[in-house]
Amino acid sequence: MLGRQEALDERKAQRESPTEPTAEWVLGPEAGLDRSALHRGHLGELQVLVRYWNGGWMAHAARCPHALGPLDETSPAEDGTIACPWHGYRFDLATGQEQAKRCGALATYPCTITSNGNLVVALPQP
Ligand code: FES
Repeated sequence: MLGRQEALDERKAQRESPTEPTAEWVLGPEAGLDRSALHRGHLGELQVLVRYWNGGWMAHAARCPHALGPLDETSPAEDGTIACPWHGYRFDLATGQEQAKRCGALATYPCTITSNGNLVVALPQP
């Protein structure tokens, strides 16, 4: 589980010495990835979670945009949302929007499978 103090420390460090996030995270051969597991990684200093759900890979920020709650212990509901364990806000995995618009959207990142079969998570193109 991702702790609150760890999240605050990371956010403080990012604000004090911002760095350009790495443009992509190559998870490796998609055929060899455990589809039942949650994959944790980084785009630069951004913590990212990758999960297989409803027939496809999806990636999103590891922390809730409301108050940095950990999203690594929640699973998607039938309606395609995940609930933050701290205050229960629900985020649509497809759009990142919080259902009741109580806070900003959860950052989501595109996942692609390259021609050589690797799963890649990348920052959205401007
Ligand atoms: S920290 Fe996630 S809903 Fe408040």
